[in-house]
Amino acid sequence: MSQTSRPSRSRRPNRSGMAALRVTVTVTAGAAALLLGSAHWAGRVDRVSHGAPLAWSVMPPTGDAVSALSRSQALRAAGLAGFSSAALATSWVQPADASPVRGDTLKLNNGLAFPKASFGLQIYDDATAQKLTETAISVGFRNFFASVLANNQRGFAKGVAASGIDRKELFICGSVVSNRARNFEEAYQFTKRGCEENLRAFAVGGITYVDQMMLDYPAGSCESIRGQWKAFEEMLAAGQTKSLAVSNFSPEELDCILADKTATVPTVNQLPYSVGKFDSKAVEENRKRGIVVQAWSPLASVGKFGQRKMAVLKELGEKYGKSPVQVALRWIVDTGATFSTQTRKKEHFEEDLNVFDFQLTKDEVERISTTTEGGFIS
Ligand SMILES: NC(=O)c1ccc[n+]([C@@H]2O[C@H](COP(=O)([O-])OP(=O)(O)OC[C@H]3O[C@@H](n4cnc5c(N)ncnc54)[C@H](OP(=O)(O)O)[C@@H]3O)[C@@H](O)[C@H]2O)c1
Repeated sequence: MSQTSRPSRSRRPNRSGMAALRVTVTVTAGAAALLLGSAHWAGRVDRVSHGAPLAWSVMPPTGDAVSALSRSQALRAAGLAGFSSAALATSWVQPADASPVRGDTLKLNNGLAFPKASFGLQIYDDATAQKLTETAISVGFRNFFASVLANNQRGFAKGVAASGIDRKELFICGSVVSNRARNFEEAYQFTKRGCEENLRAFAVGGITYVDQMMLDYPAGSCESIRGQWKAFEEMLAAGQTKSLAVSNFSPEELDCILADKTATVPTVNQLPYSVGKFDSKAVEENRKRGIVVQAWSPLASVGKFGQRKMAVLKELGEKYGKSPVQVALRWIVDTGATFSTQTRKKEHFEEDLNVFDFQLTKDEVERISTTTEGGFIS
């Protein structure tokens, strides 16, 4: 008869960055062989030796808690292996802090890790912003864009607090709008005020700094842009943000900042970028300046607003077992950009994050980039 040790649990990422639940039990050699034989049902055996810990990992297919199917398979395997189903069942429950799919990250020009999928709150009331933030965190989103324009930063901050997540696990981006300034000094003052407003709003949820502050729209002249950037540099120097970003900046507007060789290089430029609606030079123009493109309205052509699901997305979705929307998001990643999407539905949060376990070929990326299809498909 096998003996079980106290099961230990840990999260380990699989190939695609998904979190998996690991169950470790100590079994005798005979039971281990049986368990090995059964393990293909639900996961894979990492290590087996006489009386030593055996680690068995299950990759939840949906990113949710271990699926019901995997759970019952695990229990059957446990029964066959001869150790107490009850003990394994207890150990199989998703621990409270375990999070599912989180998606890939990249390294920004200042070394910070940046999750490629972000939830951008285009929500105009705090209660909904709070609820959706909690949902997004529970699903696995770790990158958030809380826009000052939508005035939802308090709701977002409350959502973070209510989720109980460690603040350090999140990449939080705030934003400042000061593009109406007419000169350097006005741009500096407006932007400075905007930075302070962000921190006041985020403090409601105990957030004392942001990982990124985004300048949402350039001011009308190079001189004014430099005024905006001066306030941003001060925020960085004061430790109120860990990085600086921009939105809707053309290459020429970026160069207004970069002409000063001592200036901090923006990490991210948030731009309109979606299938059928993108500037084909955007990623390269930003990349050569050390800047990552983050798509805003990444589903403009294919989500609810567009109601257009292009046949090429549907065809490739069938090939990879993904929805047309997931293919559209993957196309963004495979062209070298990242995205900030928005949804009110839990299943769409899951879909939007679950695009890091497949990759389009070069030809497929090209087909999507050059498609002229519009039209509706069911
Ligand atoms: N910097 C700027 O100037 C700027 C401008 C505009 C927007 N933004 C930012 O970009 C973010 C995203 O923009 P957006 O709101 O236009 O969003 P989007 O992500 O392009 O599209 C959102 C729409 O797509 C639907 N959707 C999301 N996931 C889906 C899925 N898996 N399947 C089917 N439909 C799905 C949503 O409907 P459901 O709710 O039904 O899922 C929603 O109607 C915003 O949150 C905002 O912060 C920035």
